[in-house]
Amino acid sequence: MKFFIDTANLAQIQEAHDLGILDGVTTNPSLMAKEGIKGHDAVMKHYVDICNIVTNGDISAEVVSTDFDGIIAEGKKLAALHKNIVVKVPMIKDGVKAIKWFTDNGIRTNCTLVFSAGQAILAAKAGAAYISPFIGRVDDTGWDGMELIHQLRQIFTMQGFKSEILAASIRNSMHIIKCAEAGADVCTCPLDSILGLLKHPLTDIGLAKFLEDAKKFA
Ligand code: E4P
Repeated sequence: MKFFIDTANLAQIQEAHDLGILDGVTTNPSLMAKEGIKGHDAVMKHYVDICNIVTNGDISAEVVSTDFDGIIAEGKKLAALHKNIVVKVPMIKDGVKAIKWFTDNGIRTNCTLVFSAGQAILAAKAGAAYISPFIGRVDDTGWDGMELIHQLRQIFTMQGFKSEILAASIRNSMHIIKCAEAGADVCTCPLDSILGLLKHPLTDIGLAKFLEDAKKFA
């Protein structure tokens, strides 16, 4: 399973990259706004800055247009910024049409805001490189987001769909482990959830004892 970081914060992206386990980055308009980036040029520069940190992974940059022509125009500009940019397109009717157009024209896409198997099937048929089911937001409504990952894994494997299942809206470290169990191709996670995987009290206790005993033969 590939690890993407789900943030537009450059320091966090750098920290995850320095760990040596980062395969890419996802952003969205809310994450960009959180970083206080304002204006078209600043947004474009920020995407390039991200690409310059994670030089060997895909970077999702989301369109904010909702009509076919607008999505295409915006997506072309984003894709031209860097070879690693993947155009993130919402799961709406014009979005599906745009994903197919981008696929036919050699531009890779990430279909976002996916909450059902039906939506995922449409995005896969249109040729999305990545499909992003939002686990945490499904959980928030009282349904089981992880069930969706299991369902998509079964359908995509059975049907031979090429799109990668990119588990998104990750809220904790257990989500990451469960995504790995369910066969997600990619998990995009906040930095805290990635770092949470490091933690175990027995590791801390064991290390303290090893370091104490090491003093005996220093
Ligand atoms: C990533 O591609 C999604 O935009 C993101 O994971 C959404 O996460 P949230 O539900 O925590 O906002």
